[in-house]
Amino acid sequence: MDRFLDQVAIVTGAAQGIGRAIATRLASEGCTVVIADLNLEAANATAAEIGAAYGGSTLALPVDVTDRAAVEAMLAETLARFGRVDVLINNAGIFGNARFEEMTDAQWRRMIDVNLYSVFLVSQVVIRHWLAQRVAGAIVNLASISGIVAFTDSSHYAAAKTGVTGLTRSLAMEMGTHGIRVNAVAPGIIATEMTRRSLEAPELSGGWLRRIPQHRYGTPEEVAGVIAFLASNDASYVNGELIFIDGGGTFAWDKPSDAQR
Ligand SMILES: NC(=O)c1ccc[n+]([C@@H]2O[C@H](COP(=O)([O-])OP(=O)(O)OC[C@H]3O[C@@H](n4cnc5c(N)ncnc54)[C@H](O)[C@@H]3O)[C@@H](O)[C@H]2O)c1
Repeated sequence: MDRFLDQVAIVTGAAQGIGRAIATRLASEGCTVVIADLNLEAANATAAEIGAAYGGSTLALPVDVTDRAAVEAMLAETLARFGRVDVLINNAGIFGNARFEEMTDAQWRRMIDVNLYSVFLVSQVVIRHWLAQRVAGAIVNLASISGIVAFTDSSHYAAAKTGVTGLTRSLAMEMGTHGIRVNAVAPGIIATEMTRRSLEAPELSGGWLRRIPQHRYGTPEEVAGVIAFLASNDASYVNGELIFIDGGGTFAWDKPSDAQR
């Protein structure tokens, strides 16, 4: 498939995990990809791997997605190098556990900053460019099932991801007339560095796995496939949508008598 031939995508947090899989998938479909991440060393390695595998152009940039000057510099650098940007994937994110009664202001603010403010900031910087140039574009945001159902000890993460879902719908409505589509995905439990410690705890992972109809976690590549669809012209009439990528587990309730199945 060559759905992204001659297109340029910025993928934030693309040095590793889901972001790396997204950048790889887009590049495999002909896209030029900008790997924007706090971790420049890992971003450089990912850009080199993708370039070697698919032969297209890649660019690794050191960016903190909570820093307006850095985000503006990222766009400027992308335009200077490639002359355009067609797709933005707001993927950079962090996770953390904290009991609500013990949560500090700094923990709350950082979680909201990196997971929600960044989506506002990076989208605004790119959308201002699209509006000024009168060009269309597609944005896909990483929400989470944590913004839909409740988990303990991560209320700050849940608040941020619920915010991403609301922001996605509002932005889709506001930008639709300009040919700018904005969608989101809600991954379930995907095996990455972010979830590694939880998945290694048998008391957690056993219960989760039983409840997921497919009885396994998702892979970054499975998230990337859905995101590539949403960013592509195949989804030209999909706007303001939230797609679950969770193996069907989020809304699956088992009866106590199902425990042995
Ligand atoms: N893994 C899951 O189960 C899961 C589930 C639902 C949603 N998500 C979301 O998917 C996205 C990717 O998650 P992942 O599992 O690949 O995580 P990860 O920790 O493996 O990768 C996150 C990447 O984001 C980068 N990053 C962090 N803060 C940044 C900042 N301020 N500026 C720029 N880059 C920054 C990191 O350097 C890293 O490369 C996140 O938004 C996460 O909340 C993940």
